[in-house]
This record gives sequence, C-alpha cells and structure tokens, in this order.
Amino acid sequence: MSEPDRGGQPTPPFGNRRLGVLISGRGSNLEAIRTAIDSGELDATIGVVISNRAEAAGLVHAREAGLDTVTISNRGWSRREDYDRMLVSALEEHEVGLVCLAGFMRLLSSVMLDAYPHAVLNVHPSLLPAFPGMNAQQRALAHGARVSGATIHFVDSELDGGPIILQGAVPVLQSDTPEALAGRILAEEHRLYPKAIRLVLDGGWRIDGRRFLCGGS
Ligand code: GRF
Repeated sequence: MSEPDRGGQPTPPFGNRRLGVLISGRGSNLEAIRTAIDSGELDATIGVVISNRAEAAGLVHAREAGLDTVTISNRGWSRREDYDRMLVSALEEHEVGLVCLAGFMRLLSSVMLDAYPHAVLNVHPSLLPAFPGMNAQQRALAHGARVSGATIHFVDSELDGGPIILQGAVPVLQSDTPEALAGRILAEEHRLYPKAIRLVLDGGWRIDGRRFLCGGS
C-alpha cells in the first residue's frame, strides 16, 4: 500500500479509518481501542487483528467480539523481511489504512514501514525516550524514577524511537511493585491510545524532525 509523504505540510484526514491491530498476548489495549469505537469516542473500524502467537489471549476476545483475526507465526522465518511481507499482505487484504501495535513483540523491518509510512503506531509503557525496550516499568522502578508513564508514538527504524504523539505521566510510588506500577501505566495506555489514533486519523498534523505537530498544542 502506498501512502502520501506525511512530512512537511499538514496532512488531510486519512481516507481509510480501518485499523489493523497487531498483538502478541493479553490484548488489553486492543480492548481499549474496541471499547472506544463501540462507545463512539473513536470513529474507526477494526479491519483485522493479527497475532504472531496462536495462543495470544487477545485473539480469543477479538473472536468473541466478532473481529476478523489472523495468526501469522513468526517461527520458521529466516528473514524478518519475509515475515513482514506476509503481514503487509494480510493488512492489505483487509484494506487496513492504519496499523496499531498493541503489545506486538516483534521489531518491524523496512518492508512494513515502507508499506505504511507514518501509519504504524505503538504503545510503550514509559515516558520515552526514557526506558525503551523490554521491562520498561521494572527498569523505571529500579532506576528510582519519580514519574513514569505511557507513550503512543509512530514506529520508525529505531527501537521505540519514532515521533511521539501523546504521553501521559503517572507517579512512581516508594511502595510500588513492578506490577503495581505497570497497572497504573496500563490505565494511561488505555486512555491515550484511542485518542492518539483519533488524532492521526483526523489529519491536520505534520512531522518536523522528531516532532509530531498538531493543532498548535
Ligand atoms: C503494554 O504494556 C504495552 O505498553 C506493551 O505491551 C503491553 C501490551 O499489553 N507494548 P496488552 O497486550 O495490550 O494488554
């Protein structure tokens, strides 16, 4: 799928409000997106839910909700690009315009990013650029950070490094366990992800270097 260059000039609204949500596990962010759509907070459709793990709990909930689901196992692929070609063809088959990673535990290659330029979002459980990568909540706690939070950002070739769309902060308490902090951050993820999707779909934003500029805020 070919999308216009979204650098420079403010973007028009997306022509296509069909989402492809990619998961690997629990799927609570998928549920938050679905709930926002059902309640009318987010004007979009989930075109397909794709998982790299057949046993992902989120797939069960997605099927129960009547969503189209596809499993594309990541086992047995020697090249990341070949796996991503399968992803892109499943997304195109379901006419997806915007890809939302929601706990999808794989790095994407240029095959995916070129097919969906500035049209792949991710949710990360820290205030990026602090604590990119795995176990971000545990690392924020161990580091003695006083605040942490959630980030919704565009995906680019850098790990958890693309332009930031929205962030929400939560306190890190002295009494926190990694699980307690992760739960507080997860609530922010669920609050922010539908809002970020809406911002991107509605257009009127542009990318300036690393910055996502939108409506003067
Ligand atoms: C979330 O904490 C998200 O930030 C991270 O993976 C987790 C996915 O949770 N990328 P869920 O599958 O959406 O419940």
